[in-house]
Amino acid sequence: MSTATPASDPLHPVLAALETPAALVEMERVRRNLARVSTYAAAHGLAWRPHAKTHKSRRFAGMQMQAGAVGLTVATLAEAEELGAIAGDLLLAYPPLGEARLRRLVELPARRLAVMLDSAEALAGVAEAARAAGREVEVVVEVDAGMGRLGVDVPAAAVALARGTVDAGLPFRGVGFYPGHVRSRLAEQRGQLRAVSARLGAVREALAAAGLPPAVVSGGSTPTLWCSHEIDGLTEIRPGTSIFNDRSTALVGACAADELAYTVLATVVSTAVPGQAVVDAGSKALGREEAPLGAAGFGALLERPEVTVRALSEEHGTLDLSQTDWRPRVGERVRIVPNHVCISVNLQEGLWLLEEGADAEWSPVSARHRLRRPPTAG
Ligand SMILES: Cc1ncc(COP(=O)(O)O)c(C=O)c1O
Repeated sequence: MSTATPASDPLHPVLAALETPAALVEMERVRRNLARVSTYAAAHGLAWRPHAKTHKSRRFAGMQMQAGAVGLTVATLAEAEELGAIAGDLLLAYPPLGEARLRRLVELPARRLAVMLDSAEALAGVAEAARAAGREVEVVVEVDAGMGRLGVDVPAAAVALARGTVDAGLPFRGVGFYPGHVRSRLAEQRGQLRAVSARLGAVREALAAAGLPPAVVSGGSTPTLWCSHEIDGLTEIRPGTSIFNDRSTALVGACAADELAYTVLATVVSTAVPGQAVVDAGSKALGREEAPLGAAGFGALLERPEVTVRALSEEHGTLDLSQTDWRPRVGERVRIVPNHVCISVNLQEGLWLLEEGADAEWSPVSARHRLRRPPTAG
């Protein structure tokens, strides 16, 4: 009888003892994933500033810094507060609007701090808060590289913000972008990345002509990670997902099957309906994220990628058995690779870290919260 976690799997005894659903991280794969990015960045002369939104954990932030990251990227103030003691150099890649966020920003423990923003309003808030706190906050002007989410879309607007930064007495670090619209297979990304280079090139030229050349051009994502060197003028990459990878990363060809470090361990709770099996990992464990390239399902089994999660309820995941002869029994355990790992991690209180030959170690996802934490009693 074949199972998704065979007895020959060195992790098997550890997995059998865990309650499900449980988020698992294979540490040897994480170390390899980090080394691969670090080597790539060094080979292309790129600074590596991984986005911590994927793991939201001190443990993994520390591993990234040890593997050669220059600092971390964060999206929330909670991530910055939690990880600032580990990485003394933070980029908040999210415009900090509102008094509460600005107060938290200037109180951060990080030695070096930058924010990425795209409006005069956000700039004015940062300048005022930095001045009041006597804190240096560098500015990265966000440019829309084609995604159409954040970022100024004409070079003159980037120049205006860079000049406004200097006039406000803040250091202008450079420009940043996020190519979230590029989700094609690696071999098909070239055209889109040329368009990204062209947009950035126009901004860099305008800034240089205005006497404000950007020292840093910061951008990138996991789907585009291995083509980052094709983006003209790029100096810094900010991949998040690549520490663990996920089904989306595998589908676009940005990771191999043995680079999938994160899975959700689940138990088959029903096979009553023919052609399917229901597991105890639903949308509250996996997240309800679509797959790229029109692929079906909300995740797939690690050992049997042809078995996808066809439907989700909050605590139920329905496995589609139409593409396999495998017929699981009730009580059998499977490992599911979610479509988007960052969402799944954010749904977990903690992760089980797996090392061959050792007990699983619990590691909290300690920066999942958003609001400032009240001081813990005792
Ligand atoms: C601003 C920014 N930078 C970097 C990233 C990292 O992208 P990925 O998780 O694809 O590596 C993201 C992802 O959402 C982002 O929003």
